[in-house]
Amino acid sequence: MGYDFLLLSLFVWSLLCVPTLGWGDVGHRTVAYLAEQHLTEQGKDFLNDLLPRARDFDISDAATWADTIKHRGRPETGVWHYVDVKDDPLGNHCKISPLSSGCKSKGCIISAIKEMTKQVNDENFNQTEAVMFLFHFIGDIHMPLHVEEYQKGGNLIKVSFDGHQGNLHGIWDTDMPHKINGIRHNIKHNNEKPASLKPTTAVECADVTNPDVCVKKWAKETNHLNCAVVFKRGLPYIEGTDLANEYYDDAAPIIAEQIYKAGVRLAAWINALAEQRHEKVAFVVQGDRMRDL
Ligand SMILES: *[C@@H]1O[C@H](CO)[C@@H](O)[C@H](O)[C@H]1NC(C)=O
Repeated sequence: MGYDFLLLSLFVWSLLCVPTLGWGDVGHRTVAYLAEQHLTEQGKDFLNDLLPRARDFDISDAATWADTIKHRGRPETGVWHYVDVKDDPLGNHCKISPLSSGCKSKGCIISAIKEMTKQVNDENFNQTEAVMFLFHFIGDIHMPLHVEEYQKGGNLIKVSFDGHQGNLHGIWDTDMPHKINGIRHNIKHNNEKPASLKPTTAVECADVTNPDVCVKKWAKETNHLNCAVVFKRGLPYIEGTDLANEYYDDAAPIIAEQIYKAGVRLAAWINALAEQRHEKVAFVVQGDRMRDL
């Protein structure tokens, strides 16, 4: 048993231990690229001000940042990526309220989006981080198993997909988005948009002064998909069938639509925050002028 074996074991072990939380990188990057297509000029300026300026930084890096810090000294942010909704999707009973107590004590995706929406236009906070958290969480709140507690959001449900073993959460996060895009691994600059969908920024919920309304609406809509799609075929089917076939055929258009909605909604949210910031600055400038008089 040589060094190579040890390395190989470590490698395999590290693969097994990677927790699958959140749309995989492809899903998140796609959300960011879609959002980019729907930004107003004001929205673009706002992001130019706030996002990191490193030369290799791409808008999609804003959407994956929150996953990279979770295991690098910011473990408390882990619970902000989801909400433990205790309903009964196998009994076709999906419902987001009452919210889990963890939401109040440690935070969850609902409270995190509300908090970051507040922080992003408040100079007392790191506004770069706040906007990058929004890029990520507005993606995650569109992933059904992030708005579901059952079996740790499907992480504990063993499934097979294209002949590989995995868990239900992981195939929704990563394997199915990869299959939709015809790729096996994460890539940057994956700018594909689902062809059948039309832009809808104008009609999106974007009241950033009262974020609770939109955030709950999104959570409710996403949670409902656990009943309508994710668990619809029942546990014996889910655990006993390769999910890359019929199950994938049902799920793929829903995933494409969720990722698309997330992108459009993120853009509408950023545009509204840019508008709010613009109004705030105008107000301060006006206030200073008054003082000068
Ligand atoms: C804000 O957060 C970013 C990302 O974590 C970091 O690089 C930057 O130094 C922070 N800025 C301040 C002023 O702390």
